[in-house]
Amino acid sequence: METAAAGVKTEIPTAENGAQKARHQEVGHKSLLQSDELYQYILKTSVYPREPASMKELREITTKHPWNLMTTSADEGMFLNMLVKLMNAKNTMEIGVYTGYSLLATALALPDDGKILAMDINRENYELGLPAIQKSGVAHKIDFREGPALPFLDELISDEGNHGSFDFIFVDADKDNYLNYHRLLIDLVKIGGVIAYDNTLWNGSVAAPADAPMRKYIRHYRDFVLELNEALAADHRIEICQLPVGDGVTLCRRIN
Ligand SMILES: C[S@@+](CC[C@H](N)C(=O)[O-])C[C@H]1O[C@@H](n2cnc3c(N)ncnc32)[C@H](O)[C@@H]1O
Repeated sequence: METAAAGVKTEIPTAENGAQKARHQEVGHKSLLQSDELYQYILKTSVYPREPASMKELREITTKHPWNLMTTSADEGMFLNMLVKLMNAKNTMEIGVYTGYSLLATALALPDDGKILAMDINRENYELGLPAIQKSGVAHKIDFREGPALPFLDELISDEGNHGSFDFIFVDADKDNYLNYHRLLIDLVKIGGVIAYDNTLWNGSVAAPADAPMRKYIRHYRDFVLELNEALAADHRIEICQLPVGDGVTLCRRIN
């Protein structure tokens, strides 16, 4: 049941929508995602029917890989694809490729002469998804570099010609280095361009008490994610937007 007062819609808890929903409002939670069923609904209704065949193929290859938990989700892939198109991005970068789902989402969104500088310490996983990328006809846009991203970024930054040259940068790699990446990426992205940091809600652990039970790797990186979120919020060179897509994506638009 909904009432509209002064142009604001307020949902009134009823016996049908139950105590859980009432509590949801009590804590001021604005997310629409109240259940896994709702997430599955989004995937089935809006995401999978519009997912390009090559992305579906790559996603299915990745499902069979033991580290498949690392992949970008299909709804986040769809979001990145739309974002890159809306921005008319041409020169892009990705840090953290794994089997290439977000890479393919970006490559498909770029114009034919668009570029992605893609970095990962592991080429083997990239090569698992590469046949699907090649089949989709966008492999020529990708410049894959194997190795840790920081030395590549140092090299890029040493050439002034690269400063302010990237339209869009997606960071989805070692969380303990995000702030180190940010210090360099801020000079490489153009004014008006966007750096998107993935996993900024880190499995919800950012809002959990420090002594709450959590997986070892979640606990290990939690403090780095908390530190990053605070640093981004305090950084006046950027405007930010925290999105509850996937594991949390923070968009940072460079303003000066
Ligand atoms: C979460 S996965 C990336 C997922 C990917 N965006 C996708 O759509 O499937 C993180 C990746 O970061 C890579 N990585 C970890 N440390 C790195 C580093 N120092 N430099 C570059 N890549 C790194 C890992 O090898 C792994 O493939």
